[in-house]
Amino acid sequence: MSLEEIDDIQERRAIERTLAQFDISQETIQKGVAYFIKQMEEGLSNETYSNDFLPMIPSFITHIPDGSETGLSLAADLGGTNFRICSVNLNGDHTFDMEQFKRKVDTTLMNGEDATSEEFFAYLARQVRYFLNKHHKFYLEKSESDLSKNPIKMSFTFSFPINQTSIDKGTLIRWTKGYNIPDAVGKDVVTLFQYALDEAKLPVKIVAITNDTVGTLLANSYSTLTQSKTVLGAIFGTGTNGAYPEKLENIKKLDPKIRAHLESKGVKDMIINTEWGSFDNKLEFLPTTIYDETVDSETSNAGVHLFEKRISGMFLGEIVRLVILDLHRRKLILNNYELGEDTLKNMSGGGSIRKSDSSTTLISLTNYPRRPNTKRFSHLVYTEWSLSTENLSRIQVDDSTELSVTELVLEEALHINTTYLDRLIIKKVTNAVSQRAALLASIAIAAVVLKTGRTGLTLSDDGQLVQTKHNDEIVEVGVDGAVVEFYPGFRKTIIKGLKLTQLGEQYSSKIEIVIAKDGSGVGAALCTKSYIE
Ligand code: BGC
Repeated sequence: MSLEEIDDIQERRAIERTLAQFDISQETIQKGVAYFIKQMEEGLSNETYSNDFLPMIPSFITHIPDGSETGLSLAADLGGTNFRICSVNLNGDHTFDMEQFKRKVDTTLMNGEDATSEEFFAYLARQVRYFLNKHHKFYLEKSESDLSKNPIKMSFTFSFPINQTSIDKGTLIRWTKGYNIPDAVGKDVVTLFQYALDEAKLPVKIVAITNDTVGTLLANSYSTLTQSKTVLGAIFGTGTNGAYPEKLENIKKLDPKIRAHLESKGVKDMIINTEWGSFDNKLEFLPTTIYDETVDSETSNAGVHLFEKRISGMFLGEIVRLVILDLHRRKLILNNYELGEDTLKNMSGGGSIRKSDSSTTLISLTNYPRRPNTKRFSHLVYTEWSLSTENLSRIQVDDSTELSVTELVLEEALHINTTYLDRLIIKKVTNAVSQRAALLASIAIAAVVLKTGRTGLTLSDDGQLVQTKHNDEIVEVGVDGAVVEFYPGFRKTIIKGLKLTQLGEQYSSKIEIVIAKDGSGVGAALCTKSYIE
């Protein structure tokens, strides 16, 4: 299948130019790795958070499990789309048993106009009650005085950027992934949640707050049966992020008293939540198209978390939808559809997409001439986020001759009828957008692995590979999230991308990317056993 099927050479070139905006050269990848490490170092040194470098949040988790841990713990997990509660029983032999309950978070509570933290956390507390009632009724039946003496310990996986000052305190820096409850920003989310649990008279005490990536790292370390060290836990799902163990001496911003206390207990490393979604918020390196700019302008956290907005599941479908609209406006696809006046106001930016310095010139919708004998688009084509990344994965694997799966997906998601050529082009767009995402992901992975020096290599200040004192080991990267798990070819492209980094073919083969299921449940349970008071 190729664009050669497009007869008009001008049109073909215009489409090729649009697709080429998503290409990333090897040089860019390598520059990205060096810049990523620089932003990690700045984040480790600066006490105050800034959008100019990676947040690099100390997790206060200092023990990496080895599979021998035992006991029952409760974990609450607020991720992208769902709120989940689980009780995990660690068997001490790399295995565990788990009961869980999951509920999709109500969008009114999550980002509605009147969303408040009080209502939101009260809602989470109600889910905890429901779970206990179903699976651990015993605790609800104990007398109040017994329970206040001996409440159930729960860890809270809160997968948003926080300023964490101890194992059980974290003030929200900002919401991501479509959440927007303004009054929670700047507050300690453990206090907010604990207050709601207490109000609901639940016998539960939050003992640790953690991030899903920290959980993924712990879960993989607990479950793996290999001798390899897990050097990174990463999520590629609705959002993206990574956590890794850093030497205490390198975490320059850590309170010296805390460092001295930990060192006196023999601690050498602490897990850092990088919050890499915020890599390069100043856009010094990241490839930027007008579609990326528009997606960013549609979000409640515009101007930040720009790396995430090019990689994760929440955004890929939206990028593709905007490319489709642009190609249509430039008469390159879907030529049997007109742009109706009534739809103009539904477009972001009031009908015209912001101008970028990219080679594509986008025509303002308001100036666009109507075409005769054409149909109107369904409102879905103009509805933000109407094309999901799950839709893209179905398009990506479509190998039928007429691309009939793609036809169905576009009909279902956007209510459009397509020609074979339209579908061919949209499939190419899907491929370009997802390839770019996976290659960007490999920059983050390579940078963290090189920062740890675990494969026997690191980068010098001028970006050259140098040998480290560390052993030349095979390392594991535990990954979780729907994109890396289910998006066709995503993991393969990450591996391809790793070969293009400074690690090259030879050294990137020392990185095993393993699907680490359920970090935010099992990993969170492990958190209750992985810190020093
Ligand atoms: C959040 C991170 C989280 C990641 C994956 C991002 O939007 O900022 O804290 O780890 O999503 O869930």
